[in-house]
Amino acid sequence: MRKVKFGVIGCSLMGREFASAVARWCHLEDMPAKPEIVAVCDMSEDLMNWFENALPTVSQKTKDYKELLANEEVEAVYCAVPHNLHEQFYCDIIKAGKHLLGEKPFGIDKKANDAITACVKEHPDIFVRDSSQFPFFPAMQRIGKMIEEGAFGQILEVTSAFKHSSDINPMKTINWKRMINFNGEYGCMGDLGMHTCHMPFRAGWYPNNVRAILSNVVKERPDKEGKMVPCETWDNATLLCESVDHKTDQPFPMIIQTQRIAPGETNSWSFEVKGMKGCARWCSKSPKILETMVYDGGDQAWRAADVGWMPAYKGITGGIFEFGFSDAIMQMWAAFIHELVEGKPPAKFAGCVTPDEVAYSHRLFTAALKSQKNGTTEQV
Ligand SMILES: NC(=O)c1ccc[n+]([C@@H]2O[C@H](COP(=O)([O-])OP(=O)(O)OC[C@H]3O[C@@H](n4cnc5c(N)ncnc54)[C@H](O)[C@@H]3O)[C@@H](O)[C@H]2O)c1
Repeated sequence: MRKVKFGVIGCSLMGREFASAVARWCHLEDMPAKPEIVAVCDMSEDLMNWFENALPTVSQKTKDYKELLANEEVEAVYCAVPHNLHEQFYCDIIKAGKHLLGEKPFGIDKKANDAITACVKEHPDIFVRDSSQFPFFPAMQRIGKMIEEGAFGQILEVTSAFKHSSDINPMKTINWKRMINFNGEYGCMGDLGMHTCHMPFRAGWYPNNVRAILSNVVKERPDKEGKMVPCETWDNATLLCESVDHKTDQPFPMIIQTQRIAPGETNSWSFEVKGMKGCARWCSKSPKILETMVYDGGDQAWRAADVGWMPAYKGITGGIFEFGFSDAIMQMWAAFIHELVEGKPPAKFAGCVTPDEVAYSHRLFTAALKSQKNGTTEQV
């Protein structure tokens, strides 16, 4: 089987999820290629040692990402570093001729993303995608099929949300995701936003305008020494957008929510589509339950169906079993490898976020910042 040799830059939370997906690649069936991690880069020796211990294929460890990019064996790079480094690292990766799966938000702000987008366009032979695993849950794939089949009729409303709650503890130590210098002005939108945009954007539901309400709830947090320091990032964001249903040319409201302080939610993704002919909703709190309603003149009744392990990319797990976070990460990697090798995803909703989709998310979040500042509805 064809091997795609990878370098990983940023070996922490998400870097290790990739390592785990690579280590159990035999889980997938009918893949045209398999990833192999040969080089790692991080500031932490311990994290690089973790990779070396976990994967016998790792032959290069370096604290300097340019050394990794100079490694001719490396064909593709997964880059999962703080947002302030995205622009320089992603552009250097692309210019070095390596394919890239980069983490969201793909630039700390719109200016950084514009530079990355320009670099992508200057290197059309380099395959570049953004990470987002949300739509790879089997129930979300079903909703994708329903969208393609026009099962909803005229769209009435779409809600896409991603909610966390650990920041409800005001004494939680500040980390880089709560600091503007590292995470960016977008706050929770930069951190969580692309996840909420992937599905609607792939459906063609781009927001034309936005009225945003952003909240900075906890304004100070302790640092590692326990000293209280300013915490300036937006904790919660609710974006009321207007989009257009291209099948009917009718506008509809789309609500995008990203919240770091959502009581009771550890890592809840949810998505709901309401239409004149049908509705569907799903939340990662109950990952296998897909709720749908078909309106055919009779009762307007929701039904709940268990959707088992039936993802876009086939694997050895039986169809009746449950699907989870690490499965979604692995499916996202399957999508990246499939598209890199075959040139297109097997289905519309079975592909990673494209550079154009992520660029639109920056337009949305930048307009949202302006909307919050001026109390206005802003064109996207
Ligand atoms: N897809 C998802 O669900 C998801 C979840 C969490 C984070 N993320 C994204 O992943 C990226 C990283 O977030 P994380 O949570 O893994 O952060 P993290 O802080 O856990 O890891 C970042 C790693 O980057 C390393 N690093 C920092 N500067 C470096 C440098 N100059 N050279 C090499 N390595 C360097 C750090 O040592 C650290 O190990 C961010 O873009 C974040 O938005 C995505």
